[in-house]
Amino acid sequence: MTACDFQPGLEGIPAAQSQVSFVNGQVGKLEYRGVPIEALAEKSNFLETAYLLIWGEFPNADDLEAFQEEITHHRRVKYRIRDMMKCFPESGHPMDALQASAAALGLFYSKRALDDPTYIRQAVVRLLAKIPTMVAAFEHIRKGNDPVRPRDDLSYAANFLYMLNEQEPDPFLSHVFDTCLILHAEHTMNASTFSARVTASTLTDPYAIVASAVGTLAGPLHGGANEEVITMLAEIGSVENVRPFLAEKLATKSKIMGFGHRVYKVKDPRAKILQKLVEKLFARSDNDPSYEIALELEKAVAEKLGGKGIYPNVDFYSGLVYQKLGIPTDLFTPIFAIARVAGWLAHWREQLETNRIYRPSQVYIGEHGLPYIPPEHR
Ligand code: CMC
Repeated sequence: MTACDFQPGLEGIPAAQSQVSFVNGQVGKLEYRGVPIEALAEKSNFLETAYLLIWGEFPNADDLEAFQEEITHHRRVKYRIRDMMKCFPESGHPMDALQASAAALGLFYSKRALDDPTYIRQAVVRLLAKIPTMVAAFEHIRKGNDPVRPRDDLSYAANFLYMLNEQEPDPFLSHVFDTCLILHAEHTMNASTFSARVTASTLTDPYAIVASAVGTLAGPLHGGANEEVITMLAEIGSVENVRPFLAEKLATKSKIMGFGHRVYKVKDPRAKILQKLVEKLFARSDNDPSYEIALELEKAVAEKLGGKGIYPNVDFYSGLVYQKLGIPTDLFTPIFAIARVAGWLAHWREQLETNRIYRPSQVYIGEHGLPYIPPEHR
């Protein structure tokens, strides 16, 4: 191996063979198990999509019902997990709380039987069921309140919004949230999925895998960007200020949050679907200028950076959707995690099928044979 073989960020290097999802970044195409994202966003729901991703095929009606029932049944988290969350600092970021809580689940379900389909099924069900409950619980706990118990009669999406706001959501808003979950459920070999697969390759338990992936998703270059988009739109403040803001960012070589993607060189297909949801949500709301600012920014960035293939990614419009759903800004990335658990679990299963522990090489560029220098001579 020579230095020429090194690709920063492993750009373009296949890290796995996978059947879970497919992206064509030149034309803006995304498929889960061969099914276009547009069809899933329009016709499926999150749990059906999660099933498709994890088990590789659409469930029949009975399988789907059984899966939904199992997940509904496992939504509650143990009081000791809730008590543990009460010890977290209320100023801590909810992603850190989620990472710690996901890892803690492994303490309660510590049997590790990776060749037992029942164990795999239970772990899938528990993680899909409990992650939303833990996200909503921390939101209440950090405000000094008790968590809201999950409701068995509500859908996956509606139950999460209910646990968060303690009121039954409008069906349209539940539908919008469910669509967001579908759109964020999987996205080939992104950083958190790679992290999940590396962790899975050691044959550790799925709670450690999800905790590791949550930690990776938390960074601003990955899942954390949608939080920053909202801050940026507020900072811009008006349509007139879009171009001066962009000019200043470009002059200081700063990144514009919610734009650019390692794979997509056109507008992210998920951003197109989210934008339609944003339009509907803003049509129902008063004179909030954020969407107009976002549209103007998209236009201005396309003029200046379109030549480099920099267009809105999934995070550009998702923040606006979540804001209109009344979700606090620092919960945007935990919500991304709620959805992405499906993809991580699909990759966990796939990794187990043909596992070989990840052990890449490096290109050593340091020195050799240097003498030890005693402290007094340094
Ligand atoms: N604003 C301005 N310039 C940009 C941007 C941006 N958002 N993204 C890329 N560029 C420029 C970059 O400055 C570089 O220019 P040059 O070649 O002249 O130095 C060129 O485009 C290539 O950029 P890069 O950072 O080397 O590209 P990458 O593939 O390593 O990074 C990215 C991809 C998503 C990290 C990057 O586009 C970025 O930082 N975007 C802003 C953060 C963001 O929105 N993240 C969410 C990503 S999508 C959801 C997810 O994966 O979780």
